[in-house]
Amino acid sequence: MSRLALAERPRRLRQSAALRRMVAETRLSPRELIYPLFVRPGQDLARPISSMPGQYQWSADRLVGEVARAVAAGVGAVMLFGIPAAKDPAGSAMHDPAGVVPTAVRRLKDAHPDLVVMVDLCLCDYTDHGHCGILTPDGRVDNDATVASLAAAAVLFAEAGADVVAPSDMMDGRVGAIRSALDQSGHLDTLVLSYAVKYASGFYAPFREAAENRPQFGDRRGYQMDVANAREALREARLDMAEGADVLMVKPALSSLDILARLAPMVDRPLAAYQVSGEYSQILAAAQCGWLDERAAALETLLAIRRAGAQLILTYFAVKAAQWLSE
Ligand code: PBG
Repeated sequence: MSRLALAERPRRLRQSAALRRMVAETRLSPRELIYPLFVRPGQDLARPISSMPGQYQWSADRLVGEVARAVAAGVGAVMLFGIPAAKDPAGSAMHDPAGVVPTAVRRLKDAHPDLVVMVDLCLCDYTDHGHCGILTPDGRVDNDATVASLAAAAVLFAEAGADVVAPSDMMDGRVGAIRSALDQSGHLDTLVLSYAVKYASGFYAPFREAAENRPQFGDRRGYQMDVANAREALREARLDMAEGADVLMVKPALSSLDILARLAPMVDRPLAAYQVSGEYSQILAAAQCGWLDERAAALETLLAIRRAGAQLILTYFAVKAAQWLSE
């Protein structure tokens, strides 16, 4: 048998599972996964979200049980989204201290004092028009009025016991305003995780069923970023760091791997990525058709997101992935 005279044989490193495991550069661990959850008013509810198989809208009592599963699997944190009892143009339910999210935060903190509890901070879950802000009379999102509303809600969520508030609205200046509202109200230790780079994306579609917040007119392109732009992502990240964000996040994850790779060396604090609803649902749908293997596809995407530079990953696979990783 003739042999090639090769100086380099990279395959040597791949010849056994033990060698592959030893040389793997990137690893996933459950503590770096954050589990997004939807909470609604009521009792004993786990309403399936049809476009997100395996995900539910929970009442606060049932949420505690689901979170216990996540904690047992070693998941690092949860991120709460609220579906209020009533919506109006100003999203006033966001400011109710007895609202769905503050109530859920208190219950989770009672049951799991050591769990990191994050709260998504955005008006779109609370407004009847479904936009991420307060509208001007001509139907545009008023940046500064929206920022003031978010800063006030951040204080309310911190008071309920949230460890982290996560503005996902993409208004200018909101991180600084939230930071100073938290500081002035004595919440010096509440972290701000900023959705620093959030692209307008077709991959949020299932989430809009989950959070019941589809915009009633127009779209979110006046505040979320254009997928065409990368330099703008660097600018958004720089601004949020200057305004005091403790953690920066990029979303969607899989279509932003280049952005993660560019931000990783520049961001001097934890960098997160959000594997969004559509990224989850497309894998579930294909798996249900028998076209791909859910576990292999999910773990591959999570590993690629880590490899690109994200340290933390928000993912609807959090509990399953944590269990797979511990097997
Ligand atoms: C809204 C918000 C969205 C998501 C998180 N926060 C939807 C949007 O901006 O349209 C999407 C998350 C997902 O798709 O899983 N502030």
